[in-house]
Amino acid sequence: MTRRYDLIIRDALLIDGSGAGARRGDLAVEGDRIAALGDLSAAAGEREIQAAGRVLAPGFIDAHTHDDHAVLCGPECMTCKLSQGVTTVVTGNCGISLAPARMTKRPPAPLDLVGGTEAWAYPSFADYAERLRRNPPAVNTYALIGHMSLRVEAMDHDIERPATDKEAARMKERLTEALSQGGSGFSTGLWYPPSRHAPTDEVIAVAEALRDHGGLYVTHMRDEGDGVLDSIEETLKIGRDTGSAVVISHLKCMLPQNFGRSAEALARIDEAVKAQKVGFDVYPYPAGSTALMPDRVSANLPIQISSSEPHPEMAGRMLNDIAAEWGVDPVEAAKRLLPAAAIYFFMHEDDVRRILAHPRSMIGSDGIPSNDMPHPRLWGTFPRVLGHYARELGLITLEQAVHKMTGLTAGVFGMKDRGVLREGAFADLVLFDPETVIDTATFTMPKTPAKGIVEVWVNGVSAYREGEGVTGASAGRLVTRQAA
Ligand code: ZN
Ligand code: CU
Repeated sequence: MTRRYDLIIRDALLIDGSGAGARRGDLAVEGDRIAALGDLSAAAGEREIQAAGRVLAPGFIDAHTHDDHAVLCGPECMTCKLSQGVTTVVTGNCGISLAPARMTKRPPAPLDLVGGTEAWAYPSFADYAERLRRNPPAVNTYALIGHMSLRVEAMDHDIERPATDKEAARMKERLTEALSQGGSGFSTGLWYPPSRHAPTDEVIAVAEALRDHGGLYVTHMRDEGDGVLDSIEETLKIGRDTGSAVVISHLKCMLPQNFGRSAEALARIDEAVKAQKVGFDVYPYPAGSTALMPDRVSANLPIQISSSEPHPEMAGRMLNDIAAEWGVDPVEAAKRLLPAAAIYFFMHEDDVRRILAHPRSMIGSDGIPSNDMPHPRLWGTFPRVLGHYARELGLITLEQAVHKMTGLTAGVFGMKDRGVLREGAFADLVLFDPETVIDTATFTMPKTPAKGIVEVWVNGVSAYREGEGVTGASAGRLVTRQAA
């Protein structure tokens, strides 16, 4: 009797996520799992797809997102990720997480990047996890707990200072609770004004909660410019002192005087991995994006406004042009645009490429879904790495590119049975055309879907088809860290 599966994808180029070379073969799905791989000519599927010439890979894992609120807004909200082949997002980055937090008023920037006052409705992580169970998202969600969110609560909104020992103990308690309810790690954004006031000791005192849970420490470092090496040292120390694996978010060297220093940064990380667990992610663009901060503005740094509450019509325009039109200097213009978000052109392409090419870099978009004219990384990151950096430039092989989006990331974050094509693993899958896959989102047209992503499955359910968009399926789950 012929074996019948729910789905068979035939004659694909299977790239398994481990970095190993592609091989031709079939793959069968039964329920939410990969049921078989190899030559399945003797089996049949309820649905069969002829995939000749196309790549079948594990669904991509977005190592760095601010999708905490977006995952709860329905499948349409996740078109930006599903259209890139992303099936799992890591939320709660840069010290900003929607849970657990009790916000009694509008949170200070950059916390508002994930949503205004009404979005902050999860006093405990259990509430957030319950919401994900009741209204499953279209993609899997893996959540970090943000230091800034904990600070606002423990310090009663008075966060422009170091926490007292008592407040730090309160944050540690809240972090412990959240980790026991399905949170997977702790993130900081020490570069941001409200967190700059937190000394290393405060971070360590809170991060102590990670020790018993084997949680991950993930950080937007204190300084990605002149002090980038000191910041790497601080990160490594926090990891060592708390017995935690660390992930450096969006590794970069910003501002012209630091261009080229990615070589030193990577060398230091290569040295450190001999003694402790260190990972890092990167997005494939020489511009960053975050809240607009007037004290970080200067006339010779190109800044593009991505959203402004009082002046939504300025989204997409350059700050210097707005300032000229208003007859004020750029700092004053920035102040008038607040609350606002912006794109900063402050990196060198050579550093971006050096970090992308490093065997340990994972791919994370760092996209900000709430922006009107977002950085194109929100819609373009993954196909850009596959199409531009791997195929067009040959910076890395296609298999290496896939590994940075799947197996490597699943390993660093401890996502069991994901990021791999293997019998018994979850059927998070992406089928794409290696000859045509490419990003189309640009700084002037940032919300356009990738080309060449043919179909995407989340836990065995078809979630996106090219030309048709999201299917409306909501098969995503809360994924938690299984420490090695
Ligand atoms: Zn960040
Ligand atoms: Cu971020």
